[in-house]
Amino acid sequence: MEGTGSSVCITGGGGFVGSHLADRLVGDTELVVVDNFENGRREWISDGAEVVDGDLREPAVLEAAITGRTDTVFHFAADKAVDSEDPNAQFRENTGLTASVLERMRDVGCDRIVFTSSSTVYGEAPRPTPEDYAPLEPISMYGAAKLAEESLLSVYAHSYGFDVWNFRFANIVGPRLQLGAVIPDFIDKLRDDPSELEILGDGRQEKSYMHVDECLDAIVHVVDHADAPMNTYNLGTRTTTSVRRIADIVADEMGVDPTYQFTGGERGWVGDVPRMRLSIEKLAATGWTPGMSSDDAVRQAVRQLLSDT
Ligand SMILES: NC(=O)c1ccc[n+]([C@@H]2O[C@H](COP(=O)([O-])OP(=O)(O)OC[C@H]3O[C@@H](n4cnc5c(N)ncnc54)[C@H](O)[C@@H]3O)[C@@H](O)[C@H]2O)c1
Repeated sequence: MEGTGSSVCITGGGGFVGSHLADRLVGDTELVVVDNFENGRREWISDGAEVVDGDLREPAVLEAAITGRTDTVFHFAADKAVDSEDPNAQFRENTGLTASVLERMRDVGCDRIVFTSSSTVYGEAPRPTPEDYAPLEPISMYGAAKLAEESLLSVYAHSYGFDVWNFRFANIVGPRLQLGAVIPDFIDKLRDDPSELEILGDGRQEKSYMHVDECLDAIVHVVDHADAPMNTYNLGTRTTTSVRRIADIVADEMGVDPTYQFTGGERGWVGDVPRMRLSIEKLAATGWTPGMSSDDAVRQAVRQLLSDT
């Protein structure tokens, strides 16, 4: 990436997307990865990165991770459960984390941040959503926190001179994706019992899926090509796929033929958005489009997860 500067910090860099980004940046830049490893893994972090092992809610951890040397922060750390058992605590944790990262950056004079927001800010929008879609009415605390965090980023962009890249992710898939996401969950259940698969909801939930490699290609491209104070971009594919179709792809790749048991209802859990369709025309206008459809991304991720676990 051309403009990241010589020293980069990735919060949540031991997690799924962050560890793949670390693989790309290590060697080209001085890299600090901070993670409390609640959901990440130490062994995923590339040799050559400095690891700060701790919780960013602790001031000493924040101070060790983001210093006067840091040029760019990729702020990926979050509790990403959409069906959190304690949604209020999750809202306070995620928004509090972003507020303290931004304030620490201001204290040390670091003013470039890449943030991972989410399609959940659009709630149950009835049509494919461009970035200027309104009204933004999230239906989960996770989505509400992302929207609040975007507002904080806007303040730092417009009042404190920060350069902000804000990415609203579709469902990102690929190697290292953990249980709790639909693909690893289906693989796990079918390894336990290849004859039957429980599917949450009616299986018709339909969303955009993007492979992590393409997600990172897009981030690199946009950071190099967009230079407004606050650059908000959807990251997804032009197509969607259904949960039932994902079950078909997983079963096909595993060579099994299960009967499906649907738990019923149009959503898998409270806060689940049944249909997520992101417009990626703003991204395409920068000169980058994904090569994979949602089905392609899912199939590739299934193959990689099966060979890795
Ligand atoms: N993966 C997706 O499909 C997706 C979709 C939309 C948005 N996002 C966002 O992208 C970001 C990365 O997602 P991911 O899938 O890699 O998640 P992940 O859970 O794999 O990674 C997040 C990492 O942050 C760490 N972390 C959380 N709280 C922390 C704290 N207080 N201190 C230190 N470390 C902490 C976790 O241990 C984890 O390793 C998140 O902000 C997530 O909300 C992801």
